[in-house]
Amino acid sequence: MSQKAYVTTPIYYVNDVPHIGHAYTTIIADTMARYYRLRGYETFFLTGTDEHGQKIEEAAKMRNKTPQAYADEISGKFRTLWDAFDISYDKFIRTTDNDHKIGVQKAFQVMFDKGDIYKGEYEGHYCVSCETFFTDTQLVDEDKCPDCGKATRLVKEESYFFKLSKYQEELLNWYHMDEKCVLPKGKKNEVISFVKQGLRDLSITRTSFDWGVKLPTSMNDEKHVMYVWLDALLNYITALGYGQEEENMAFWPATIHLVGKDILRFHAIYWPAFLLSLGLPLPKHVAAHGWWTRNGEKMSKSKGNVVNPKEVADAYGLENFRYFMLREVPFGQDGDFSQKALIDRINSDLGNEFGNLLNRIIGMSGKYSNFVINSCDVAKFHANELKTVDAILAGVENNLLELQTNRYLEDLWKALSIANQSITLHEPWVKMKEGKEDEAMAVVALVSNILARVTLLLHPVMPKTTTTIAHAMHFEISTDSFETLVVGKNMLPTFTIEKVPPLFPRIEEELLAQPETQAPIVMETKPKKESKKEESIITIDQFFETSLKIGTILDASIVEGSDRLLQLKVDVGEADPRQIVAGIREYYTPEELISTQVCVVANLKPATIKGLLSQGMLLAAKDKEGLCLVRPERPRKSGASIG
Ligand code: MSP
Repeated sequence: MSQKAYVTTPIYYVNDVPHIGHAYTTIIADTMARYYRLRGYETFFLTGTDEHGQKIEEAAKMRNKTPQAYADEISGKFRTLWDAFDISYDKFIRTTDNDHKIGVQKAFQVMFDKGDIYKGEYEGHYCVSCETFFTDTQLVDEDKCPDCGKATRLVKEESYFFKLSKYQEELLNWYHMDEKCVLPKGKKNEVISFVKQGLRDLSITRTSFDWGVKLPTSMNDEKHVMYVWLDALLNYITALGYGQEEENMAFWPATIHLVGKDILRFHAIYWPAFLLSLGLPLPKHVAAHGWWTRNGEKMSKSKGNVVNPKEVADAYGLENFRYFMLREVPFGQDGDFSQKALIDRINSDLGNEFGNLLNRIIGMSGKYSNFVINSCDVAKFHANELKTVDAILAGVENNLLELQTNRYLEDLWKALSIANQSITLHEPWVKMKEGKEDEAMAVVALVSNILARVTLLLHPVMPKTTTTIAHAMHFEISTDSFETLVVGKNMLPTFTIEKVPPLFPRIEEELLAQPETQAPIVMETKPKKESKKEESIITIDQFFETSLKIGTILDASIVEGSDRLLQLKVDVGEADPRQIVAGIREYYTPEELISTQVCVVANLKPATIKGLLSQGMLLAAKDKEGLCLVRPERPRKSGASIG
């Protein structure tokens, strides 16, 4: 039987629409689920929404909606976003699902029968925003919540309690025995010192509102509903069928509960205590990530600086965004979102260091060997490089298993830099001139093999991009090829590489549209470099490296949000017209351009300008009078070469 992996995200409160923090948790969890699947584990990936409690009841009331109608609406938004993000969840649970409620009642009964639940009276402070109880001594500024700073409410009501104190020693023992049960280590130490201060029994029912799961009928106590955190935490087992068919309980215990640092206490203290009471094994890892800020500031609706993940993914590419989030911050630490950092990662790591490598082997193999790449001489000429790459990749999976996604990606990029360096060092084009074709081809094959291994390892982070690369290099993304190429370090069999469309077009400047309810992601353009005044002499060969072609403009339109740009469809004699974004709006109207001819730089690296792909540049002359396009004197066929 194959090994099993169970990965979860927190279930999200339905009082707010999804933001970058939710996307971060979900993307890490999705990466882990994809990793386990790739490694052959039978995997169950759970996400969903947390829909009960006072906070949701009040949020619905403010909008004149029933809690259920309100929960349906917001839960739908989460689900739609995860579907748009291709999140590979196996189940989307809602705490208003009937199966879940039955499972929660069953768990309550088991804990009660075990003698772990008793009736008493709760008197203390409650933070509705955090759905958390606090004692006098825990409050800050007299009545404020120590976690979110909002005012707490004084609560005095009859309540059932869970004997949390009873499990204090067992919990400390768990932290002690299982080194990686809470990740990262620093956060685990915080949990341990909290528990060592002494645990008080936990109020687990409320009577002052009723938007929650009722107690089991056998309790005969209609006025209580379950405390929302008891209800919510139990989702991790009710989703597997706990209390009913138990069809997926074989996935328990969870491999990873992924959570934000603000909710670690619930997952690393209350949840294992509930599980001990239920007689179930404890999760293997509870892993807590840090928080995202925006340009150094905490995100909040009142500041209007909340980052909308859909908007970012639409403008910059979903997989680029995934890469950025996982690479930018060490797991457990807070991270800052800025467009500049994102653009730098795309242009530098992805474009220059990764995408270029693929282009270079496509270009070189095209010139030297009709796109055929053969690994037979790699070991002979590049034993050292292979050894270095083996050493870099040896510990890489452990980093991922401990959620150190930034280190994982750093190591993959170290391997890519060995590939880039080997091209610079061995200069295959010189080897070709010297008649050493086998040596030139060995460099190309070395790079291909490094690229193949990195592609497989990167698959959980960038599933679509890596699949495109694997197709171009004629290998499968599969558990078997991972075993063969990454674990077994085998070489690729001889293959013919395919050309691929540009994977990471360079981003020059971006402006994200201002959404209705959230702050715009501010335009941050890079200053244009001063153009060099001095003209350098080039050879005729250098001149012919530029492919200039006659193009016919088939369509032209303005680019919304820009007074400089026009979006053009230009026929340059290829199967499909090219899209070119040109800064000529001040000088031409779209209508006067249609059906005219222009000169196009056709082999320019594609770029994204204001979110639009631009696949070329028009030649134009500019002086004090203004700008005019350079055009052929007489009509020529589209695609006719200039030079
Ligand atoms: N409903 C509870 C979880 C119950 S799990 C049994 C909850 N929901 S939440 O919607 O408020 O938060 C969900 C997750 O989003 C948490 O892990 C939280 O840390 C994360 N984030 C919320 N804002 C965030 C940032 N600004 N940055 C990163 N993550 C943050 O808590």
